[in-house]
Amino acid sequence: MTLIKMPPAGTPYRFSDLFFAKLGLFQGEEVFDEFTTILKHYFQVDHLALVNSGTTANFVIYNVLKELRRNKKQNEVILPAYTAPSLLLPIEAAQLKPVLVDIDPDTFNLSVEKVQEKLSEKTLAIMPVHMFGLPCEVEAFLTMTAKTDIFVLEDGASALGTTINNRHIGTIAPFGFYSLNRGKNVSTLAGGIITWQDTGLTELFRKHVAALPTLSQRAKWLMFLRFCGLSLAVRPFPYTVLNPFIAKFKYTTLHTHFDTFQYTPMQAELGINLWKRIDLLDRKRVENGKRLIEIFQNQFGFHIPNIPIGARVAFNQFPVIVDDLEKRSQIIRQLSSEGIETSTLYDHPLHHIFPELNTEGPDPYPIATHLAEHLLLIPPHAQINARIITKVQKVIENLG
Ligand SMILES: Cc1ncc(COP(=O)(O)O)c(C=O)c1O
Repeated sequence: MTLIKMPPAGTPYRFSDLFFAKLGLFQGEEVFDEFTTILKHYFQVDHLALVNSGTTANFVIYNVLKELRRNKKQNEVILPAYTAPSLLLPIEAAQLKPVLVDIDPDTFNLSVEKVQEKLSEKTLAIMPVHMFGLPCEVEAFLTMTAKTDIFVLEDGASALGTTINNRHIGTIAPFGFYSLNRGKNVSTLAGGIITWQDTGLTELFRKHVAALPTLSQRAKWLMFLRFCGLSLAVRPFPYTVLNPFIAKFKYTTLHTHFDTFQYTPMQAELGINLWKRIDLLDRKRVENGKRLIEIFQNQFGFHIPNIPIGARVAFNQFPVIVDDLEKRSQIIRQLSSEGIETSTLYDHPLHHIFPELNTEGPDPYPIATHLAEHLLLIPPHAQINARIITKVQKVIENLG
């Protein structure tokens, strides 16, 4: 008998999602207004725009920042040494320079103290990345840059649904973005959301988004077919049966290129339908995260991030640092034999993947390196139920 496997990530789609996505194929851009209004209400923001991916959203923000910068010398973007390698692509495409900073072992996110040391007249922007859904200390970066012309933009790609003191992360700094890609907290197959606070910048953002190419009708149909495939692949039974085939679609190599184009009405219709149950989708991630915190917090040899007071964390993946790598392998094997697929995500920090970014000796960002090498990610998505979490608990207690 084949054991049913639980997919490591994914929005659980319903039949109605397929129906509305298909409807969107025959609609025009007016559906963007409806989805945008829903999203503005959800995030409690006045301004946002939709594009084809989080990477494009990030790229559009850099282009706007370049138009706003006072000094041409400002061409550096500060980001954490442990994060998605694809974040370097829009930096390069915007002809900017990445400057890496180590992470904080308590938060697993960009270290405030170490960012302070890297600020210079060349700094254009600081980009705290809310990794795994965990909120960064955005306010600290805003205070740090208050009397400077350095911008702060939040990468909320993996953290849609996370709030701090009831404010959505990604909306605290003057600029932010989210991803609606297939492994993210909520997915319209792909997609990116840009948020900004200054009404005076709305025309500039509109100009950059309107300049993106639109997809042909054929490409939109192909996208719909890909969505049909995804809606099957995120269900445990088809995921198990089709696993060898699905494995081919998993990202295993580094991205070297990104496409930029406009969001599509099909995705907007799908998004409108998904947002009817957004509370449920968010709540499951928050609740599963809380249970996982209880399981790991007092276990010897495991480290989990501190959750700031006032935070409600919609985990994209639940991160644990496992001291003993042999134990990590055993956990991965045992959970897999229970049908639970874990991940170790990026096995290396950015300065190991791209040695040209390491200009400061053997290992200037050791905490990022340690995290990359010892990380274990447990899925907390909406299909993970109490029974599955109990299985995780048993495995950890037996090996702990
Ligand atoms: C932290 C982070 N930022 C940005 C992105 C880019 O988003 P997208 O895949 O929608 O381009 C990703 C994607 O993996 C990510 O994990």
